[in-house]
Amino acid sequence: LGAAALTLAACGDRAAPTEVGGFAPPPALTPKAGQNVVTQTLAAAPTTVDLGGKTVSTWAYGESLPGPLIRATAGDLLRITLENRLPEASTIHWHGIRLHNAADGVPGMTQDPVKPDTSFTYEFVAPDPGTYFLHSHVGLQLDRGLYAPLIIDDPDEPGDYDAEWIVTLDDWIDGTGQTPDEVLAALTGARPSDGGGMDHGDMPMGDDGPGGMDHGGMPMGDEPWGDAGDVAYPHFLVNGRVPEAPEIFEAKPGQRVRIRLINASADTIFALALGDHDLSVTQSDGFAVEPVTVKALYLGMGERYDVVVTVKNGMFPLVARPVGKSSGGQGLAVLRTGAGEVPAPDVQVRELDEDVLIGSTLEPAETARLEDRAVDTELELAFQGSMQPYQWAINGAPYGQYTPLSIREGQRVRITATNETMMSHPLHIHGHTFALPSGLRKDTVMLAPMESFALDFDADNPGRWAAHCHNAYHQEAGMMTGIDYA
Ligand code: C2O
Ligand code: CU
Repeated sequence: LGAAALTLAACGDRAAPTEVGGFAPPPALTPKAGQNVVTQTLAAAPTTVDLGGKTVSTWAYGESLPGPLIRATAGDLLRITLENRLPEASTIHWHGIRLHNAADGVPGMTQDPVKPDTSFTYEFVAPDPGTYFLHSHVGLQLDRGLYAPLIIDDPDEPGDYDAEWIVTLDDWIDGTGQTPDEVLAALTGARPSDGGGMDHGDMPMGDDGPGGMDHGGMPMGDEPWGDAGDVAYPHFLVNGRVPEAPEIFEAKPGQRVRIRLINASADTIFALALGDHDLSVTQSDGFAVEPVTVKALYLGMGERYDVVVTVKNGMFPLVARPVGKSSGGQGLAVLRTGAGEVPAPDVQVRELDEDVLIGSTLEPAETARLEDRAVDTELELAFQGSMQPYQWAINGAPYGQYTPLSIREGQRVRITATNETMMSHPLHIHGHTFALPSGLRKDTVMLAPMESFALDFDADNPGRWAAHCHNAYHQEAGMMTGIDYA
């Protein structure tokens, strides 16, 4: 049955083989003695959502954005049912969780898509504590609002905090009269080719290349990301709210707050700061790092960071500035610990334009390091493509025509991931957490233009796993492949 999923012919640039039959329903899991079971239902449906005085019609898990939090403790059995009330098929992917393959939620790769008016129960154990999220893995449904935070608590480490906030970032196209699919159609079809089939991958890296495109007058500092997004979004959301009606977090001066940051956007890298607070970064994609203190950090699509903050007295903007976007605007939430004015929607945070932390430069905590061992197999994964024409691929093929990377159970695998384009791409690998050369553990890593990383992981979770760019538009235009092992 697996082979059937891979031999589908590509259909233009959009080749995601979602209409595949024949995956057996996953076997039901029986809880072990003493194992806690977390049961929840997520209904995906067309709905109306209030973004804070602005109401939009979209697709969501429930009445608000983000969808309902799912929270469990490492080792629990999660039993989550997707009820699909959408007019098209859907799935749920549990981004970052090292779960068994049949629950991974990739249509045509690990399961049949869940048809309208049917449901599917995902059962899995989440082995690693951390900050995660879930989202539809069909088409551009993520960009309509089908995402929700997913937190796995550490049974041994409750954490030394007075409060915890979950901060989910999003870019928001809906409400403009165009669906994400229409936006992608415009990118792939209506954009005129420049005639020469210009490939950004061949462009020199000078400041005036595509990376120097119109940034809408936003100060860019020494931003490393080049041309960082394709879609001009009218809104940027923090916890589902526009900056004109931001969420207000209350705390007392001196309290220690853990902030779990999730970039659930489809097409936007954010730079984030909380006024001039010191942010102590403690986790990256759920895994502990050697804490560093910064004023601001970047979050690529699909990345998560946990930071700890000792809050000051007053009123502070939490600003998420989109990077390399020409559309302007930003995401905003507010921290109130004392008197002060609520910050204006377009408030500037000085630290956002200097010394913004690039997550891949973090060092791992000792406890998060992979065991030292020799690499058994080395593979290449090259991100390729261009904006004009709008084509994205991995290792020379769009998703519908890909040849999976093949590994064997038990191997230590090294994937050399190279970005051969002038655009940045967040690489996400399913079912595993890889180590960068520093040892830093991640499941999603930002690759700047022409940047390359060696990513090591242990092949200890057999199946067919997706590896793709987490820019949803690039992914849907073909920037996805598979890693296979039996
Ligand atoms: Cu968050 Cu394959 O995705
Ligand atoms: Cu990309």
